[in-house]
Amino acid sequence: MAIVVPGVTLSSCGLTMPVIGMGTSSSPPVAPETTKAAIIEAIKAGYRHFDTAFAYRTEQPLGEAIAEALHLGLIKSRDELFITSKLWSSFAEKDLILPAIKMSLRNLQLDYIDLYLIHWPLKLSQEVRQMPVIREHIFPLDIKSVWEGMEECKNLGLTKAIGVSNFSCKKLEELLSTAKIPPAVNQVEMNPLWQQKKLREFCKARDIHVSAFSPLGANNTKWGDNRILECDVLEQIAKAKGKTTAQISIRWLYEQGVSTIAKSFNKERMKQNLDIFDWSLTEEESNKISQLPQRKGITFESILGPHDLVLELDAETLNEY
Ligand code: A2P
Repeated sequence: MAIVVPGVTLSSCGLTMPVIGMGTSSSPPVAPETTKAAIIEAIKAGYRHFDTAFAYRTEQPLGEAIAEALHLGLIKSRDELFITSKLWSSFAEKDLILPAIKMSLRNLQLDYIDLYLIHWPLKLSQEVRQMPVIREHIFPLDIKSVWEGMEECKNLGLTKAIGVSNFSCKKLEELLSTAKIPPAVNQVEMNPLWQQKKLREFCKARDIHVSAFSPLGANNTKWGDNRILECDVLEQIAKAKGKTTAQISIRWLYEQGVSTIAKSFNKERMKQNLDIFDWSLTEEESNKISQLPQRKGITFESILGPHDLVLELDAETLNEY
């Protein structure tokens, strides 16, 4: 039986978003057919929210999976799904934003995206093909003009909501000082070992919904590890409740009022990750989790290299737990 995932209303735009979305980024990358097949399984399991990005190269297989799900009758209409995609940093320039979202829409075979995010708070040159990059290819983001481009996407109906990803409080403040449409979402790394308390308080006070990526520590990826899945405290709680550490992490995120982007292409694990709605953590368990020592998993430096601008961005986010 498919699980029905509750929704959260994005207060700045009134849109409802399922609180668990499936991540589509694999590292190392997998064949598009594998991604497509996993998404179809996920729709059967009850996922209605999918997170992609131009940079993940999963917009096309997601689009094909949606078309097939409609053809198979797994969903009656595209409107039953919530699709998030992201503006890649090489297109983070006012005149390149409309062409970028239109390209994403073509990849996805859709007329609109539900939520379009600025992927990173910096701009990269269009020549960038691999990471790390040379300093000459990195530029500060012109937040005001890029956000105007994002607002245009929403005003034209190409996306229902707009937001950001990997933004610090400082970057959000800069954005809010000129935005006509406030960002609906800030999607950031968040899990029991990187709880983002400061950023969450900041966002709550400004009606910006926080969405958590790497809820399981991005295990098996180049930048992730097993620190969540094998965390002693989470393991003890999981054992006592007959759950898995992954479920404890996702349930904890749900109880913090954030939404979660969890990636699993494995049929059993993707079901497990949705099975968190008919039980809860005790106060004692939550207290234990809130006292866990904090460590950010992914830094811009680890992806882009130790450049001045990159280190500045990391420094902004590193004091926000
Ligand atoms: P797989 O796709 O084989 O299930 P994150 O969401 O933090 O980025 O973590 C994703 C990683 O965690 C992937 O390697 C994924 O592998 C693995 N994963 C996802 N769900 C679970 C789970 N319930 N138990 C163990 N590993 C999981």
